Amino acid sequence: VLPGLPTDLTRLERLARKRLSPGAHGYVAGSAGTGATARANREAFDRWRIVPRMLRDVTVRDLSVEVLGASLPAPVLLGPVGVLSIVHPDGELAVARAASALNVPMVLSSAASYTIEEVAEAGGEGPRWFQLYWPKDPEIAASFLGRAKAAGYTALVVTLDTPMLGWRPHDLDQAYLPFLRGIGVANYFSDPAFLKGIGGSVGADRSTALLHWAAIFGNPAVTWDDLGFLREHWDGPIVLKGIQHTDDARRAVDAGIDGVIVSNHGGRQVDGAVGALDMLPEVVAAVGERTTVLFDSGIRSGADVVKALALGARAVLVGRPYAYGLGLAGEAGVRHVLRCLMAELDLTMALSGITRPADLTPEFLRGP
Ligand code: FNR
Repeated sequence: VLPGLPTDLTRLERLARKRLSPGAHGYVAGSAGTGATARANREAFDRWRIVPRMLRDVTVRDLSVEVLGASLPAPVLLGPVGVLSIVHPDGELAVARAASALNVPMVLSSAASYTIEEVAEAGGEGPRWFQLYWPKDPEIAASFLGRAKAAGYTALVVTLDTPMLGWRPHDLDQAYLPFLRGIGVANYFSDPAFLKGIGGSVGADRSTALLHWAAIFGNPAVTWDDLGFLREHWDGPIVLKGIQHTDDARRAVDAGIDGVIVSNHGGRQVDGAVGALDMLPEVVAAVGERTTVLFDSGIRSGADVVKALALGARAVLVGRPYAYGLGLAGEAGVRHVLRCLMAELDLTMALSGITRPADLTPEFLRGP
């Protein structure tokens, strides 16, 4: 861990509020509307409590898990967070280096501040997944997938909950939208299919390109019938992110999808939504035997990881905590966050009588 940075990630969050610019902090910390969903995410964790077991020989522990055919050192991934250069100039490059150093998969956002290829180079041999915001132009979507494949991203995460950005008062009130400043569009502005739509190049006045970006970024028209497009253009594992209802989870599995991420985007899309963890047990009961269920939205500690795993998630993704680590200390800050989370997970498991993630069952929790 890094001296000077809090090892409690909720305190790290408070430090980031002091150190980051108000605009950047508002963008990262902010959520939709009144913030009710982000609060619900945390309240859901608070309702579940771990019931530790004793005298079970916890000398040797192994945190590794298999996810979609790959072995992860721990059941933790860095979730897709776009526009990271708003908190640190090295943005996703620093995240890729930190992830690679610990062999933790990084999920690169479509809306990153560096390109698919630049981030792959920074990450070297480290595991990487690509997250797609399904754009209106199918040529751009296909081009993104081709680029990600060529650059060594092994799994595809398709985010379903963001056909458009949610109502985010923090950003509206501060008139702070990174995209309008040209941040988070690197993949688009470097893409041949995107450039074709604006006559070949971005040009000195980026306003035409930015308007085109705004026009194609989201695709509110996609339905379950369109999933075939993904398979046509991606031959590796496909994971759908933003699943909350059991019927959607079933539909995803019936369509041949390899995994789902139970997530509400950290409360940034629908205000007044159910806490993500509240839906996890139902989704696991519905599809857990047939597919890989991952989880994000509200993870702030190793104990939170234990709870999500005990409720059936194979692994979890974190969002804001590593963005704060990046903002406070660059690559070292991201490593700090990952190390804290993994060390606390290891200790919480040991002190609860668990030596392997696979042994975590609902029996270790008491809840609502
Ligand atoms: C996100 N998230 C996100 N998700 C996604 O699929 N693509 C993206 O580009 C982004 N961008 C993004 C930016 C910022 C600043 C945040 C905070 C979040 C959502 C992210 O992947 C994840 O679902 C949540 O962050 C998880 O909740 P916690 O860990 O932040 O509580």
